[in-house]
Amino acid sequence: MSNSNTFSPLPPWPRSDYCGALRAIDENREVALWGWVGARRDHGGLIFIDLRDREGAIQVVFNPERASAAHTVAAQARSEFYLAIRGKVLRRSSNTVNPELATGDIEVAAVEAQILNPSWPMPLHLDAVSDEQLRLKYRYLDLRRPEMQRNLRIRHQAVRGAREFLDGQGFIEIETPILWRATPEGARDYLVPSRVNPGKFYALPQSPQLLKQVLMVGGFDRYYQIARCFRDEDLRANRQPEFTQIDIEMTGPRPQDVMAVGQGMMASIYRAALGAELELPFPQMKYGEAMDRFGSDKPDLRFGLELRNLTSAFGETQFRVFAETLAGKGVIYGIALPAGMQLARRELDELAESLRARSGLGLAWARIAGNEWQGPIARHLSATERAQIADLMELADGATLLMVAGSRTKVRPVLGEVRLQLGSRFELRKSDQRRFLWVTDFPLFDYSEEDRRLVSVNHPFTAPHPEDLDRLDSDPLKVRALAYDMVLNGEELGGGSIRIHNRELQLKIFEQLGLTREEALEKFGFLLDALSYGAPPHGGIAFGVERISMLLCGTDSIRDVMAFPKTQKAVDLMSGAPSEVGVEQLRDLAIKVTI
Ligand code: AMO
Repeated sequence: MSNSNTFSPLPPWPRSDYCGALRAIDENREVALWGWVGARRDHGGLIFIDLRDREGAIQVVFNPERASAAHTVAAQARSEFYLAIRGKVLRRSSNTVNPELATGDIEVAAVEAQILNPSWPMPLHLDAVSDEQLRLKYRYLDLRRPEMQRNLRIRHQAVRGAREFLDGQGFIEIETPILWRATPEGARDYLVPSRVNPGKFYALPQSPQLLKQVLMVGGFDRYYQIARCFRDEDLRANRQPEFTQIDIEMTGPRPQDVMAVGQGMMASIYRAALGAELELPFPQMKYGEAMDRFGSDKPDLRFGLELRNLTSAFGETQFRVFAETLAGKGVIYGIALPAGMQLARRELDELAESLRARSGLGLAWARIAGNEWQGPIARHLSATERAQIADLMELADGATLLMVAGSRTKVRPVLGEVRLQLGSRFELRKSDQRRFLWVTDFPLFDYSEEDRRLVSVNHPFTAPHPEDLDRLDSDPLKVRALAYDMVLNGEELGGGSIRIHNRELQLKIFEQLGLTREEALEKFGFLLDALSYGAPPHGGIAFGVERISMLLCGTDSIRDVMAFPKTQKAVDLMSGAPSEVGVEQLRDLAIKVTI
């Protein structure tokens, strides 16, 4: 067995094949393999070991009579020891074929074996689902699992597919700095103190947005980058503090030109990663329609249960809650569950309860049983109202009607959430369906109640629709942006826009976002100056590599497609980052920690 006296950094023989890549066609070949000990069965005489590497596992047989030294090694080997073996590929007898393994109709009869490194007893099981904290702490072991091997390879193939396509379209890959300054993508910045400039900080880029725009001014015409981005934001199942974008910018495109590049690239990604062909072009939907029908700017089109605007049916309503909503210029939207989808009374109550807790809005419901309407609000609805609602919602016998009343900005997203919940409850999302969609015509601004000012829906560099320029002052919330998002099955895969390439217009937008001219010049002076030297029109898009990989791999956790992800609390459990630093280091940086 290897110990520090016998330690050799060089394997005793080169590898001829990957364990998991051997097939029946290799019968009778002499092979040399390295791999980890998976399952091990000691039958008294024969010992069987499943030897595993990145391609999969193969059964190795150790026969005490034919190869006694190798058999002794196998007797000492334990789970996850790393072995080198030499032997011959044999066909298994028909009654011992294992159809579960890709290598299941062959095995290797060991001639020679060495333990290259033993293993401590395993803290987690590789063939069962372990606690995620444990998986992240021992990530190097977790990564040996076939599922993680597969996921990271699919991710690699996806990025390869993107590179191939973009290369073919004349895009040039250019790296941009990580130590840089704040770019406003809406999250908090990660800051890095500068030792040589005490009291000053770099910000890690939330995206290369401004740099890629400057690259267009710099004449590269078509740029891309597999770019690391850093955002200090609340983490969710599909968000990490650092993540990767396929970041793209081009000179002079119309929105449809960027979309053509985006969907062409996505087709290349699916071909490279899954060997699948996508149907192009992807359909498009305007933001307004997406919000109205699905209550979301990233609608999941795999199922119906669409929202309908029922406001017009309640003009004369006697129902106090609805009447108050209408008096306050609010709206009433509904969803109809067909007879085949029944919610128990308890479920309806729970749904209403969780809705109220999350949004402060109530849920009104009624069930249609023949000519009868049942449920707590039924008696408040007149015959005319019932007829109008039935017409608007296309209600059939046995349907359940769910309604939410309130401000337009709240009602649609809230009901959109309910729709997604119902989709899960009735298992309406088919996992093998791919419904790609472009969402276009986003508004340029939103009004933030919290900040009491206009905020960018996309980012401040997005160009307003040229037809709406005259509304910038008079009705800014009605101005459309030249922006587009790519959505798949309810996930936003990427988003981008045509940019402002005119200094004065960019200054005007900053002003509308509440920045004084001085602040704008201080923060974005370099961009504004760059725009002043013959900057060409430009536009682009960025895609989340992890989001794309999640959908390719069929997982709903972003951590399953990253080698070393962080926890919800932005901690790396393996290394313990972030960690405290020494007093001297802090002194060098002129930083005092006050906690
Ligand atoms: P945006 O902020 O929409 O646009 O980001 C583009 C895509 O990046 C992915 N993404 C994330 N993935 C994982 N974790 C996160 N925290 C995270 N945040 C975003 C999403 C998203 O669609 N500069 C603009 C693009 C442009 O205008 O060209 C930008 O960054 O898939």
